[in-house]
Amino acid sequence: MKRIVSGIKPTGSLTLGNYLGAIKQFVKLQQKMEDCEFFLFVADMHAITVRQNPAELRKRILDIAAMYIACGLDKEKTVLYLQSEIPQNVELGYILQSNVYMGELERMTQFKDKIAKQETSITSSLFTYPALMAADIILYDADYVPVGDDQKQHLELTRTIANRFNNYYGDFFTVPEPLIPEVGARIMDLQDPEKKMSKSDTANPKGFITLFDDSATIRRKINSAMTDSIGVIKFDPENQKGLANLLTIFASITDRDVLDIVNEYKDSNYKVFKEDLGNAIVEVLEPIQEKHKNLIKSQELQDILNKGRDIASDYAFKKMRKCKRKVGLGRK
Ligand code: TYM
Repeated sequence: MKRIVSGIKPTGSLTLGNYLGAIKQFVKLQQKMEDCEFFLFVADMHAITVRQNPAELRKRILDIAAMYIACGLDKEKTVLYLQSEIPQNVELGYILQSNVYMGELERMTQFKDKIAKQETSITSSLFTYPALMAADIILYDADYVPVGDDQKQHLELTRTIANRFNNYYGDFFTVPEPLIPEVGARIMDLQDPEKKMSKSDTANPKGFITLFDDSATIRRKINSAMTDSIGVIKFDPENQKGLANLLTIFASITDRDVLDIVNEYKDSNYKVFKEDLGNAIVEVLEPIQEKHKNLIKSQELQDILNKGRDIASDYAFKKMRKCKRKVGLGRK
């Protein structure tokens, strides 16, 4: 049986980008690949690479856990857990730090972006983050890792680290394949379509839709999304970046072809198009929010997380015991 592993970091509220680039893909894969096992987690250890308010962090961790299920993942087929509840993740992360070079970490775009913004309080864990991410994946021998486009580079480094380990110590870790969706892998900011829609970006809330936004807010944000003065509905990411992003969102959220949507609206105008897009998003998010509300305080969610922790823990414990032996740590 093949195993699919992926995670989401609880920094900021989940956005439409997280839904279309990641969670919706997990749900689709689960429906399509029946003989696959799904290990999905909340990457809470990753969140503390930047300063977090403890009470808010704890709330967001549960929010994400509930969202996985509310978005349609099958609780019977999903091993859902919190990264911090499996200590072997961090233990392997350290071993992998010892198998990755400073130069490789320095080349990570996400890290370089932070440096470029001249952020002064960059922690050492933010720098070594990709080693922990690699551990999250290879500890469970993931065959596939569904992610959005921005995680591609981290996945490539994960493969490099796994291969390096296997070459030196002998075949041990499965080398994972990334799964990046064809549509929706990079949803852009609604106000600045040059940059990725991001949950950590608190500067301009009009730029992103969160999965918790109410219907009126969603419609308002779509109506005020940046477009252009060309005024013609066509898919032209070069010259009509904002519109291309909205078309991508429309296609991805309705599972339709971009060109099919262009065809429908080619004689229409931005106002009508945006109204319909707003409605399409609301139609998908409203039932998700309702399910989330019921789940968040339920014992059911706690039971799912307990079960997930136990299954993931069992795998991680055995794998790590073997891994330490391979590396030569301990007494025997
Ligand atoms: P994170 O929490 O930033 O994002 C979670 C998932 O959402 C995708 N995503 C997007 N997709 C399309 N458009 C966007 N604007 C957009 N923004 C985010 C991301 O690509 C990701 O798939 N390092 C990871 C979390 C992580 C992880 C892992 C993922 C930790 N360990 C192991 C996979 C496997 C992160 O920060 O994702």
